[in-house]
Amino acid sequence: MPIFIDSSNPVEIERYHRMGIIRGVTTNPTIMLKDGVAGRAGIEARSREIARLVAPLPVSVEVTTNDPSAAVEQARSFTEWGENINVKITIHGPCGETENVQVIHELETVHNIRVNATAMMSAQQCLLAAMAGASYVSLFCGRVNNMGYDSREEIARLRRVLDGFGLKAQIIAASTREVLNVIDWLDAGAHIVTVLPSLLQGMLVHPYTKETVQMFLGDAARVEASLNR
Ligand code: E4P
Repeated sequence: MPIFIDSSNPVEIERYHRMGIIRGVTTNPTIMLKDGVAGRAGIEARSREIARLVAPLPVSVEVTTNDPSAAVEQARSFTEWGENINVKITIHGPCGETENVQVIHELETVHNIRVNATAMMSAQQCLLAAMAGASYVSLFCGRVNNMGYDSREEIARLRRVLDGFGLKAQIIAASTREVLNVIDWLDAGAHIVTVLPSLLQGMLVHPYTKETVQMFLGDAARVEASLNR
Protein backbone atom coordinates (compact mmCIF):
# COMPACT_ATOMS: atom_id res chain seq x y z
CA MET A 1 0.00 0.00 0.00
CA PRO A 2 2.64 2.52 -0.95
CA ILE A 3 0.90 5.92 -1.01
CA PHE A 4 -1.32 7.60 1.57
CA ILE A 5 -2.43 11.23 1.36
CA ASP A 6 -1.44 13.53 4.24
CA SER A 7 -4.48 15.80 4.34
CA SER A 8 -7.85 16.45 5.93
CA ASN A 9 -9.19 18.37 2.93
CA PRO A 10 -12.09 16.30 1.51
CA VAL A 11 -11.85 17.94 -1.93
CA GLU A 12 -8.17 17.03 -2.31
CA ILE A 13 -8.70 13.57 -0.85
CA GLU A 14 -11.61 12.84 -3.20
CA ARG A 15 -9.65 14.11 -6.20
CA TYR A 16 -6.77 11.69 -5.68
CA HIS A 17 -9.02 8.87 -4.45
CA ARG A 18 -10.98 9.04 -7.73
CA MET A 19 -7.69 8.60 -9.60
CA GLY A 20 -7.08 5.39 -7.63
CA ILE A 21 -3.61 6.42 -6.51
CA ILE A 22 -4.03 6.60 -2.73
CA ARG A 23 -4.39 3.70 -0.30
CA GLY A 24 -5.11 5.60 2.92
CA VAL A 25 -5.29 9.00 4.62
CA THR A 26 -3.31 10.50 7.49
CA THR A 27 -4.34 13.60 9.43
CA ASN A 28 -3.10 15.35 12.55
CA PRO A 29 -4.34 18.35 14.56
CA THR A 30 -2.02 20.74 12.68
CA ILE A 31 -3.32 19.56 9.31
CA MET A 32 -6.94 19.85 10.53
CA LEU A 33 -6.33 23.38 11.80
CA LYS A 34 -4.85 24.37 8.43
CA ASP A 35 -7.81 22.77 6.63
CA GLY A 36 -10.32 24.84 8.62
CA VAL A 37 -11.61 22.19 11.04
CA ALA A 38 -13.06 23.83 14.18
CA GLY A 39 -13.98 22.32 17.54
CA ARG A 40 -14.37 18.73 18.77
CA ALA A 41 -17.58 18.44 16.73
CA GLY A 42 -15.66 19.61 13.68
CA ILE A 43 -13.02 16.92 14.16
CA GLU A 44 -15.75 14.30 14.39
CA ALA A 45 -17.64 15.59 11.35
CA ARG A 46 -14.50 15.87 9.19
CA SER A 47 -13.19 12.46 10.27
CA ARG A 48 -16.54 10.81 9.53
CA GLU A 49 -16.66 12.53 6.13
CA ILE A 50 -13.16 11.39 5.15
CA ALA A 51 -13.73 7.86 6.48
CA ARG A 52 -16.92 7.55 4.37
CA LEU A 53 -15.21 9.03 1.33
CA VAL A 54 -12.37 6.52 1.19
CA ALA A 55 -13.85 3.45 2.96
CA PRO A 56 -12.53 0.81 3.37
CA LEU A 57 -9.13 2.52 3.10
CA PRO A 58 -7.58 3.40 6.48
CA VAL A 59 -7.83 6.93 7.91
CA SER A 60 -5.56 8.01 10.78
CA VAL A 61 -7.00 10.48 13.31
CA GLU A 62 -4.85 11.76 16.18
CA VAL A 63 -6.05 12.04 19.77
CA THR A 64 -6.13 15.60 21.12
CA THR A 65 -4.91 14.83 24.63
CA ASN A 66 -1.82 13.44 26.29
CA ASP A 67 -3.70 12.14 29.32
CA PRO A 68 -3.51 8.33 29.06
CA SER A 69 -7.07 7.45 30.13
CA ALA A 70 -8.57 10.33 28.13
CA ALA A 71 -6.56 9.15 25.11
CA VAL A 72 -7.97 5.62 25.44
CA GLU A 73 -11.51 7.03 25.74
CA GLN A 74 -11.02 9.28 22.70
CA ALA A 75 -9.55 6.43 20.68
CA ARG A 76 -12.54 4.24 21.47
CA SER A 77 -14.98 6.95 20.40
CA PHE A 78 -13.00 7.75 17.20
CA THR A 79 -13.35 4.16 16.03
CA GLU A 80 -17.15 4.48 16.33
CA TRP A 81 -17.01 7.20 13.65
CA GLY A 82 -15.95 4.71 10.99
CA GLU A 83 -14.70 1.13 10.83
CA ASN A 84 -11.67 2.28 8.84
CA ILE A 85 -10.49 4.84 11.42
CA ASN A 86 -7.09 4.20 13.02
CA VAL A 87 -5.90 6.19 15.98
CA LYS A 88 -2.69 8.18 16.13
CA ILE A 89 -0.85 8.23 19.45
CA THR A 90 2.41 10.13 19.80
CA ILE A 91 5.26 7.92 21.02
CA HIS A 92 5.59 10.09 24.12
CA GLY A 93 4.29 13.35 25.53
CA PRO A 94 5.71 16.88 25.24
CA CYS A 95 7.82 16.35 28.37
CA GLY A 96 8.87 12.82 27.47
CA GLU A 97 5.93 11.14 29.24
CA THR A 98 6.22 7.46 28.33
CA GLU A 99 2.74 6.26 29.36
CA ASN A 100 1.83 6.73 25.70
CA VAL A 101 3.52 3.42 24.90
CA GLN A 102 1.21 1.66 27.33
CA VAL A 103 -1.74 3.38 25.65
CA ILE A 104 -0.56 2.04 22.26
CA HIS A 105 -0.28 -1.46 23.72
CA GLU A 106 -3.67 -1.31 25.45
CA LEU A 107 -5.51 0.00 22.37
CA GLU A 108 -4.07 -2.73 20.15
CA THR A 109 -4.26 -5.68 22.55
CA VAL A 110 -7.26 -4.93 24.79
CA HIS A 111 -9.51 -2.79 22.59
CA ASN A 112 -8.53 -4.22 19.19
CA ILE A 113 -7.92 -0.72 17.79
CA ARG A 114 -5.37 -0.16 15.02
CA VAL A 115 -2.79 2.37 16.23
CA ASN A 116 -0.57 4.63 14.17
CA ALA A 117 2.30 5.49 16.55
CA THR A 118 3.39 8.94 15.50
CA ALA A 119 5.84 11.85 15.84
CA MET A 120 8.84 9.51 15.75
CA MET A 121 12.29 10.70 14.70
CA SER A 122 14.34 7.50 14.94
CA ALA A 123 14.29 3.80 14.10
CA GLN A 124 14.69 2.96 17.76
CA GLN A 125 11.49 4.79 18.72
CA CYS A 126 9.69 3.01 15.88
CA LEU A 127 11.03 -0.37 17.02
CA LEU A 128 9.64 0.13 20.52
CA ALA A 129 6.26 1.25 19.12
CA ALA A 130 6.24 -1.87 16.93
CA MET A 131 7.08 -4.03 19.96
CA ALA A 132 4.17 -2.43 21.83
CA GLY A 133 1.91 -3.63 19.02
CA ALA A 134 1.38 -0.55 16.81
CA SER A 135 0.03 -1.44 13.37
CA TYR A 136 1.73 1.59 11.81
CA VAL A 137 4.90 3.38 12.87
CA SER A 138 5.22 6.91 11.49
CA LEU A 139 8.79 8.08 11.05
CA PHE A 140 8.88 11.84 10.41
CA CYS A 141 11.53 11.60 7.70
CA GLY A 142 11.40 15.23 6.58
CA ARG A 143 12.07 16.32 10.14
CA VAL A 144 14.85 13.72 10.46
CA ASN A 145 16.48 15.20 7.35
CA ASN A 146 16.01 18.70 8.76
CA MET A 147 17.97 17.64 11.86
CA GLY A 148 20.89 16.72 9.61
CA TYR A 149 20.43 12.94 9.48
CA ASP A 150 19.71 10.84 6.40
CA SER A 151 16.22 9.42 6.93
CA ARG A 152 16.81 6.80 4.20
CA GLU A 153 19.37 5.05 6.42
CA GLU A 154 16.96 5.12 9.34
CA ILE A 155 14.16 3.64 7.19
CA ALA A 156 16.40 0.89 5.81
CA ARG A 157 17.66 -0.15 9.25
CA LEU A 158 14.16 -0.12 10.69
CA ARG A 159 12.81 -2.24 7.83
CA ARG A 160 15.59 -4.81 8.25
CA VAL A 161 14.90 -5.11 11.98
CA LEU A 162 11.09 -5.33 11.61
CA ASP A 163 11.39 -7.98 8.89
CA GLY A 164 14.14 -9.85 10.73
CA PHE A 165 12.05 -10.21 13.86
CA GLY A 166 8.70 -10.70 12.15
CA LEU A 167 7.12 -7.56 13.61
CA LYS A 168 3.86 -6.68 11.88
CA ALA A 169 4.15 -2.87 12.00
CA GLN A 170 4.10 -1.03 8.68
CA ILE A 171 6.51 1.87 8.31
CA ILE A 172 4.82 5.12 7.26
CA ALA A 173 7.43 7.61 6.08
CA ALA A 174 5.91 11.01 6.90
CA SER A 175 6.72 14.74 6.77
CA THR A 176 7.19 14.88 3.02
CA ARG A 177 8.99 18.01 1.89
CA GLU A 178 9.95 17.29 -1.75
CA VAL A 179 8.57 15.22 -4.64
CA LEU A 180 11.72 13.09 -4.61
CA ASN A 181 11.06 11.96 -1.02
CA VAL A 182 8.35 9.54 -2.15
CA ILE A 183 10.44 7.27 -4.37
CA ASP A 184 13.53 7.70 -2.15
CA TRP A 185 11.72 6.59 1.00
CA LEU A 186 9.88 3.69 -0.65
CA ASP A 187 13.16 2.59 -2.20
CA ALA A 188 14.80 2.74 1.23
CA GLY A 189 12.22 0.29 2.61
CA ALA A 190 9.17 2.24 3.82
CA HIS A 191 5.94 0.27 3.36
CA ILE A 192 4.04 3.54 2.86
CA VAL A 193 4.80 7.21 2.28
CA THR A 194 2.10 9.67 3.29
CA VAL A 195 2.25 12.48 0.76
CA LEU A 196 1.05 16.09 0.76
CA PRO A 197 -1.50 16.79 -2.01
CA SER A 198 0.79 19.41 -3.59
CA LEU A 199 3.55 16.82 -3.92
CA LEU A 200 1.18 14.28 -5.53
CA GLN A 201 0.49 16.95 -8.14
CA GLY A 202 4.23 17.48 -8.51
CA MET A 203 4.83 13.74 -8.98
CA LEU A 204 2.20 13.56 -11.68
CA VAL A 205 2.68 16.63 -13.85
CA HIS A 206 5.91 17.04 -15.82
CA PRO A 207 6.67 20.02 -18.09
CA TYR A 208 8.19 17.79 -20.79
CA THR A 209 5.08 15.56 -20.75
CA LYS A 210 2.98 18.70 -21.31
CA GLU A 211 5.12 19.63 -24.28
CA THR A 212 5.00 16.08 -25.68
CA VAL A 213 1.22 15.81 -25.33
CA GLN A 214 0.90 19.21 -27.00
CA MET A 215 2.93 17.85 -29.93
CA PHE A 216 0.72 14.72 -30.15
CA LEU A 217 -2.49 16.75 -30.09
CA GLY A 218 -1.16 19.19 -32.70
CA ASP A 219 -0.10 16.38 -35.00
CA ALA A 220 -3.35 14.48 -34.37
CA ALA A 221 -5.26 17.54 -35.56
CA ARG A 222 -3.06 17.73 -38.66
CA VAL A 223 -3.56 14.00 -39.40
CA GLU A 224 -7.31 14.36 -39.07
CA ALA A 225 -7.31 17.47 -41.25
CA SER A 226 -5.31 15.64 -43.92
CA LEU A 227 -7.80 12.68 -43.89
CA ASN A 228 -10.63 15.09 -44.53
CA ARG A 229 -9.06 16.68 -47.56
C1 E4P B 1 1.69 12.33 9.03
O1 E4P B 1 1.23 11.31 9.53
C2 E4P B 1 2.36 13.35 9.82
O2 E4P B 1 1.57 13.78 10.86
C3 E4P B 1 2.78 14.52 8.96
O3 E4P B 1 3.38 14.02 7.76
C4 E4P B 1 3.73 15.44 9.70
O4 E4P B 1 4.22 16.39 8.83
P1 E4P B 1 5.11 17.64 9.31
O5 E4P B 1 6.39 17.10 9.84
O6 E4P B 1 5.27 18.43 8.06
O7 E4P B 1 4.32 18.34 10.37
